[in-house]
Amino acid sequence: MGIPPSAPVSVGRPNDDRLVDRFGRAATDLRVSLTDRCNLRCTYCMPAEGLAWLPQRNLLDDEEIIRLVRIAVRRLGVTEVRFTGGEPLIRPGLPAIVAAVAALEPRPTLSLTTNGIGLARMARTLRDAGLDRVNVSLDTIDRERFTRLTRRDRLDDVLAGLAGAAEAGLTPVKINSVLMRDVNSDEAPALLRFALAHGYQLRFIEQMPLDAQHAWDRSSMITAEEILTALRAEFTLHPDPAERGGAPAETWLVEGATDPSGGPAKVGVIASVTRPFCGDCDRTRLTADGQVRACLFATEESDLRGALRAGADDEEIARRWRVAMWGKRAGHGIDDPSFLQPARPMSAIGG
Ligand code: 5AD
Ligand code: SF4
Repeated sequence: MGIPPSAPVSVGRPNDDRLVDRFGRAATDLRVSLTDRCNLRCTYCMPAEGLAWLPQRNLLDDEEIIRLVRIAVRRLGVTEVRFTGGEPLIRPGLPAIVAAVAALEPRPTLSLTTNGIGLARMARTLRDAGLDRVNVSLDTIDRERFTRLTRRDRLDDVLAGLAGAAEAGLTPVKINSVLMRDVNSDEAPALLRFALAHGYQLRFIEQMPLDAQHAWDRSSMITAEEILTALRAEFTLHPDPAERGGAPAETWLVEGATDPSGGPAKVGVIASVTRPFCGDCDRTRLTADGQVRACLFATEESDLRGALRAGADDEEIARRWRVAMWGKRAGHGIDDPSFLQPARPMSAIGG
């Protein structure tokens, strides 16, 4: 069996080792999904019964993940690596993967997006392995709502995970919150109060059409504008003078509040839908089954697992990754009439 041909073409691609595309961007931030499974069932992500998980044989093993990340860092100019899922903490090899990636030269920044369950127990190990930071998903601090929203009564585990992360020095500890109309849409100020009281950095994310059930609709989405209006009823916000760069969050300084390092406390809003930041996007994504995606909303994937298992060498893998990213589109086009939600849900793509 030979190495399968890669699909997209690279017409017009300059001779550049990095992950450049046709719109002048270069991807330096790699998101790696370590599993599509999760121990929660957030209603905006999965149905109650879960999903048909990827078969084990299709998942990259720890060595394959480490090899692909090494190729990205050594050959493709990736400087930041974030592990996501599903829920990455349920992957047994996580500390070893983190340690191997932290040992790469040049050393990438290493972070983790997690729902926080089990983080209290794992934070120190991950810190010692070389993890720099965590983002914890938390949409409500009300126990009953949490149970309804995630279909599991685990709020206390998440709160313990946040505390454990701060204690272990995985800082700044960031919280990602998604607001949904008539579910937790009144909770923006309470979430910010909670984050400020504990020294966590809160960011709201507009809900995107990435749910497995394809139930997203624009009218139930809480917009960045609504979130800011709700926050301003209780807080005075000033635009953050710091450069935004490729970072998706627009950040505000909260008047009268400080963060744990004594600087001004911030709150962020990621307006993926109403104020897309695609023009500054610096992401490349690897799914748990070894497919490169140029975008969360890409409809094409490029199969690195197949190439890897057919014996491709590092330079051939790097070449395929470059070709895949050259095909990246200008934007997600959620507002285009022709927009198609990706076939795979967020939990299989990686957040
Ligand atoms: N829209 C916006 N954010 C989402 N997340 C999961 N699904 C969606 C969606 N449809 C968030 C999770 C987590 C991060 C990985 O993405 O809450 O914080
Ligand atoms: Fe799990 Fe994250 Fe999906 Fe919630 S949003 S079910 S925590 S993968």
